Amino acid sequence: MDLLKAVQERKSIRAFKPDPVPRETIEEILRLSIHAPSAINLQPWEFQVVMGEEKERLSRRLMKAYREKQISCGPGTVKPLPRTFGKRGAKTLEGMKPFLDEMKVQPDQFINEGSCNFYGAPVAILIFQDDSFSKGSYVDIGIVLGYFVLVAHAFGLGTCPIGLINAYGDEVKDVLNIPENKGLVIGAALGYPDWEKPINRFKSYRENLDKVVRWVE
Ligand SMILES: Cc1cc2nc3c(=O)[nH]c(=O)nc-3n(C[C@H](O)[C@H](O)[C@H](O)COP(=O)(O)O)c2cc1C
Repeated sequence: MDLLKAVQERKSIRAFKPDPVPRETIEEILRLSIHAPSAINLQPWEFQVVMGEEKERLSRRLMKAYREKQISCGPGTVKPLPRTFGKRGAKTLEGMKPFLDEMKVQPDQFINEGSCNFYGAPVAILIFQDDSFSKGSYVDIGIVLGYFVLVAHAFGLGTCPIGLINAYGDEVKDVLNIPENKGLVIGAALGYPDWEKPINRFKSYRENLDKVVRWVE
């Protein structure tokens, strides 16, 4: 698939078919994704691919943690966001609403519980990083995630990055037996999109370039 086409077409998928994804396909997607650049080529990413009964177990544990702690999807900022940014999030949620109404689901519940369940995808990809790295290395994880979502799209698969699970990192580590010194950075749902579900018709907007770029010459 043409790269520019993939960049324009890709979007987060929030409803999946239960069909399993062959292990060889996941391997090929990850093999291509790790072509991503990283500082000093340290490749600080450590993937966990969770499938089958283990994925169901993980989802159940996350749902339980969500019910207990009630930490929702949010920007996770250290200060309140400047209005410009807050408005972007609100506009995105507004854009999703008609599709969620069509599905007769409550938006908060759909997104929070959906995220904990990787939106029903058969595969959960989790990316960890050794705690020796500084937070600056999150950039490398962000880049590999970017490659991953595009490569998966080129394979006809859907993805949704799941940052919410960061709030439940201890539970994730416990259920998957992850060593103390490995930190959960981000997760992603992976599977075949269920195109019958209205939410998958939603495509998020982007600001015009003049709102996000300042030219200095
Ligand atoms: C770091 C990161 C964390 C995210 N976490 C979540 C999440 O927990 N739940 C969710 O439904 N979507 C999540 N998303 C998906 C974003 O909402 C989505 O990328 C954004 O709205 C733009 O839409 P698009 O991916 O369809 O282009 C996350 C995306 C990123 C990059």
